[in-house]
Amino acid sequence: MVSLDVEDAIRRRRMHREFTDDPVPRPLLRRMAWAAARAQQARSGIRHIVIVDDPRILAAARQVLPGFLTNAPAMLVLGTDLERAKQVLGPKGVEVATRIDVGAACAHLALFAQTAGLGICTITSWAEPAVQTLVGLPPQLRADVTVAVGFVTPTPPPAPRGFTTPLHHNRFGIDWEESDD
Ligand SMILES: Cc1cc2nc3c(=O)[nH]c(=O)nc-3n(C[C@H](O)[C@H](O)[C@H](O)COP(=O)(O)O)c2cc1C
Repeated sequence: MVSLDVEDAIRRRRMHREFTDDPVPRPLLRRMAWAAARAQQARSGIRHIVIVDDPRILAAARQVLPGFLTNAPAMLVLGTDLERAKQVLGPKGVEVATRIDVGAACAHLALFAQTAGLGICTITSWAEPAVQTLVGLPPQLRADVTVAVGFVTPTPPPAPRGFTTPLHHNRFGIDWEESDD
């Protein structure tokens, strides 16, 4: 494990789809799950994580999850207990809060992975029942995201992003001004 400057880790963050053949040791997968679980969550007891390193399940994932376009040797499946979420957050919480906290978990994973030479790919292009069946989620567990995990060869920092995020200043449509003169 190496220590990383947070700003540097954010700058270098990227999705990976090609991984080395090296298996990810279980203690490291456990550390990844820890990093995901340390992200902000609206309430406790809602988030579940299935850590997958069985090559047969990963091979099946490549067959049945259209977005799983990767040779990753491991994946984490993040799911929401909808019954518990409804009890403690109400219907709006189920739709909004649980989506926010799973996004926060993915952000942690993308940054923390870099401390161990790992990379990830956040993947949601699939049908929920396929993920349910793949890892045996009970009916009250909603599959939110599959995160491919594996070792990556050192790569240069990503090229400037193609995605842009418009900024507004105080009101929508007013360009952000750096100087307050
Ligand atoms: C919610 C979400 C869903 C995504 N689903 C997929 C997917 O199904 N398959 C995939 O290969 N990448 C997926 N990605 C990765 C994006 O394609 C990737 O983030 C985007 O191309 C920008 O690349 P970068 O993150 O490396 O900057 C997803 C990303 C997010 C945030």
